[in-house]
Amino acid sequence: MVSYQRPGSRPSGMLCRVAGGSSTAMESPVPKLTFLSADGTARAVDGALGESVMLAAVQNGVPGIIAECGGNASCGTCHVWVADEYIDAVGEPNDTEEDMLDLAVSERRAGSRLSCQIRVTEDLDGLTVEIPAVQP
Ligand code: FES
Repeated sequence: MVSYQRPGSRPSGMLCRVAGGSSTAMESPVPKLTFLSADGTARAVDGALGESVMLAAVQNGVPGIIAECGGNASCGTCHVWVADEYIDAVGEPNDTEEDMLDLAVSERRAGSRLSCQIRVTEDLDGLTVEIPAVQP
């Protein structure tokens, strides 16, 4: 299989063959995400660039991220509190997420986000989020 990387795009981390060249393993940054449970347990997992923080939690069996709607911003069961130092990096919630945060989460704080709406980027390496004791 031959894969091509668009000029200027980030490496995907997969084995990549450049046309006319040899196979090389592309190094890809793997952002580390830390989930803090209500009981104080910390769990660090690898995030996949472009995927959601929720997906990283679910794929790694992080307790407390239920994600009933599968990432459609319609259940609120992936609610997290983003650590203060990452609030700017994760960006602002859109209107749909704002509505869910207003209506469906147990305790809204400054760092409240639906983890399904946070895309993993290199800037989020080290991201720490708290998981509420109770999801809606
Ligand atoms: Fe349902 Fe995020 S998974 S709101």
